[in-house]
Amino acid sequence: MSEALRVVVTGAAGQIGYSLLYSVAKGDVFGANQPIELLLLDIQPMLSVLEGVVMELQDCALPLLREVVATADPMVGFKDVDVAILVGAMPRKEGMERKDLLAANVRIFMTQGQAIDKVAKKTVKVVVVGNPANTNALVTRKYAPSIPPQNFTCLTRLDQNRAQAQISSRLGVSHDKVRNCIIWGNHSSTQFPDVRHAIVNIDGKDIPVPEAVKDDSWLKNEFIKTVQQRGGAVIKARKLSSAMSAAKAICDHMRDWWFGTKGNDWVSMGVPSDGNPYGIPDGLVYSFPVRVKPDHSYEIVSGLPIDDFSREKMDATAKELQEERDMAFAACEA
Ligand code: NAD
Ligand code: LMR
Repeated sequence: MSEALRVVVTGAAGQIGYSLLYSVAKGDVFGANQPIELLLLDIQPMLSVLEGVVMELQDCALPLLREVVATADPMVGFKDVDVAILVGAMPRKEGMERKDLLAANVRIFMTQGQAIDKVAKKTVKVVVVGNPANTNALVTRKYAPSIPPQNFTCLTRLDQNRAQAQISSRLGVSHDKVRNCIIWGNHSSTQFPDVRHAIVNIDGKDIPVPEAVKDDSWLKNEFIKTVQQRGGAVIKARKLSSAMSAAKAICDHMRDWWFGTKGNDWVSMGVPSDGNPYGIPDGLVYSFPVRVKPDHSYEIVSGLPIDDFSREKMDATAKELQEERDMAFAACEA
C-alpha cells in the first residue's frame, strides 16, 4: 500500500458532497490500493451537519479511509493536500444562468486560491465544480501563483457525459460504445457540445457519430440545445441542481487525470488556454479535448479540423468567458 493521498472536498456538507465522498473514500477514483485522508471543508454553520457526514463515513468501515478531518478553516482544509475538489459554492435556482452566481461565489475562490498557495502541496491537482466553474477556476489559479497553472481545471465532464448519453440513446447502444465527444468552452448555455469527431462502436466496428446518426439538423440544433440546457432542465424538475450525475462526473474527471486517458481517446476538461492550438485567448479556463498521460500531465488534442459552424460556436463561448473574467477580477478587487 502506498502513502495516503490527502484529498480535500469543499462544500462537503452539501448535496454533491454527499454523493461524492463515498466513491472517493471507497477507491473508485484513485484506485483500490490507494489509502485516502479526507479533508472536509465547509462553512462554520454547517459544521454540525458535517459531523453527521463524518459519522457516516466512519460507519461505512472503508478499508482505504485512514483519516477524516472536518473543518471550516481553509488553512487546515488545504494543508498539504494532493488533490482539491472545490465544490463549495451557492448553486443556481430556476431562471438563473450560472454566471449570475459570480457575485455570490467569486470571493470564495479568491480566498481558497490564497490558502492553496500558502499550504497545499505544490503538485496539488485542483478541479473546480462550484459555478460558474471555469471562471472560478481562473480566479483560484490567479490567487495561487506558486502552483503550476495547468494544475487548475474545471469540470465539464458532466456535459461530456450528457452528450455521450444523448448520442447513445439516439443510436440505441450502451453508453460505453460512444467516445470522444467534445465540450468546447464554458460550462454554461454557450458551451459547444461537438460530436463531429466522436466515434460509436456498433457490432465491433468504429463509425463516426455523424455517419451513424445520419441527421445533421438534429446534431446541429436539438442535440446541442439539450446538452447546453440540461442543467437547467434538472433544476426545473428537481428544484435542486444536479448532484448524483455531478458527483459521478467529478469521479470520471479525477480518475482520468490521475490514471490517464485510454489509447488515443480524449476527454473534455476545462484547462488554462495558452492561445494554442485553436486560437482561444490565452489564460481563459476553457474546455478542450485533452489526452492525459499516466504521470498526470495532459495535452490539448491538436489538429482537429474546425469548420465555420464550429468556429463561430467556439468563439461565442470564449467571448462569454472573457466577459465573466472581467467581471470576476473586478469583483475580487472591489
Ligand atoms: P449545496 O448548496 O448543496 O452545497 C454547497 C455547500 O457549499 C454547502 O454545504 C455550503 O455550506 C458550502 N459552502 C458555501 N461556501 C463555502 C465556503 N466558502 N467554503 C466551503 N464550503 C462552502 O450545493 P451543491 O448542489 O452541492 O452544488 C455546489 C456547487 O456546484 C454549485 O455552485 C453548483 O452550481 C455547482 N455544480 C457544478 C456542476 C458542474 O458540472 N460544474 C454540476 C453541478 C453543480
Ligand atoms: C449542472 O450543469 O447541472 C450544474 O452546473 C448545475 C446548474 O446550475 O446547471
